[in-house]
Amino acid sequence: MKDIYLDISFSSAEKVGIEHGFTEAELAKLSKTIEENHHILLNERKNKKYGFYDLYKDIHTIKKVEHTAEKFLSKGYKNFVVLGIGGSALGIIALNTALNPPFYNLLPQNIRKGHPKLFVMDNIDPDTFSQMLSICPIEETLFNAISKSGETAETMCQLMIVLDMIEKTVGKDKVKEHLVLTTSPKIENAPKSLFHPIVEKYELTQFDIPLNVGGRFSVFSPVGLFPSAILGFNIQEMLEGCEKMDELCLNPNLELNPAYQFSAIHYLLDKNKGKKVSVMMPYSDKLKDIADWYRQLWAESLGKKYDLNGNIVYSGQTPIKALGVTDQHSQIQLYREGPNDKIINIIKVNNFDNILKIPNILSEISELDYLRDKTMNALLAAELIGTRDALVLSQRPVITIEIDEVREYTVAQLMYMLEVATAMAGKLYGVNAFDQPGVEEGKRIARELMRKIQV
Ligand code: PA5
Repeated sequence: MKDIYLDISFSSAEKVGIEHGFTEAELAKLSKTIEENHHILLNERKNKKYGFYDLYKDIHTIKKVEHTAEKFLSKGYKNFVVLGIGGSALGIIALNTALNPPFYNLLPQNIRKGHPKLFVMDNIDPDTFSQMLSICPIEETLFNAISKSGETAETMCQLMIVLDMIEKTVGKDKVKEHLVLTTSPKIENAPKSLFHPIVEKYELTQFDIPLNVGGRFSVFSPVGLFPSAILGFNIQEMLEGCEKMDELCLNPNLELNPAYQFSAIHYLLDKNKGKKVSVMMPYSDKLKDIADWYRQLWAESLGKKYDLNGNIVYSGQTPIKALGVTDQHSQIQLYREGPNDKIINIIKVNNFDNILKIPNILSEISELDYLRDKTMNALLAAELIGTRDALVLSQRPVITIEIDEVREYTVAQLMYMLEVATAMAGKLYGVNAFDQPGVEEGKRIARELMRKIQV
């Protein structure tokens, strides 16, 4: 099975100039810090401070996920609706876009091999939510509410609306046939999830999100795996992808560790060359939501006011999602000629599921000679190289992430790599990559406001 490759050479001073690219000396200096941090992370992993590294090894949970999915699939639900936000939603959105065919929900059920349509409700827009409810009749729908804390207002609001409808439609005893909850485990002295009493009241199936796994690092826990199993993704291949990338990331040598290369180049170019923006630009529609998932991972993990010693640092790069080739006609003008404050990550897919030939027609228009008899695939590849080279000509640093094909094995590798890169970047910036204190204040104010509202 094929892997993924990282090419950092287009971010080097040699390619984009000393003002914008990294030098070998800078990288060599940082590699020592990386190695030290590698051992700290390894130790913290061993002491179970972070659980995301080892989720793929949790055979007991994986078996439960597969078994439960099988049980629910045998009931023939037409729709599967995820209720959740942030890290509870972005992972499965990314996996679905990557691994299901485009326009999946529009395909007839037999082409979907009996798997349900997917709706991920990661917002509280009343119009979208009402529309989902009207096209997903309760009798034909399985809901999966996901919240690590079990107290997120948006998810609770969605859950209360859905729970009421399920109970009114099928009765209290049958709620368990239409609702599965995923939250933190019920453990003495651990933070309580408001999902726990609901699980008890309706005797629901509950999946646990380990306490040491944060939302944005939870895609390989039941948060991402149960929906994946319901959608029929190859879980085994996904886990093998994690294992393969874990192996690579266990190497403290920067030159051989793609995750550390990613974090090192981003950190160096931010700190030394003013690259305050990280663009993730896959040249594949299937990977466009990986860019969205990465946007949250990089932003929420590294955007911190304080470092670990309590100093004010205002750290973090602003992650941007873009899509090749679409955004060549929207963003590239800015990326080439606007402020030189970005590092651009281009994801290149070598093999698509389809090869689409451009027919040999319109021979009277000689200006189309360059397209005739070629393929859409070749055009996409040429545009990627054209854009990368043009960016480099303008001294804009580029990292290329090359993927042989988009499938469970490679997508899992990519996501696992970006998680490890984020953990290492947290160490380099000297911040806690695993909390999000900046989100709390807004939540508190909104709750207070809700308490004061009468109707
Ligand atoms: O990464 C995170 O921790 C956050 O983005 C959470 O996933 C998000 O706030 C939702 O939280 P919860 O899963 O507790 O509902």
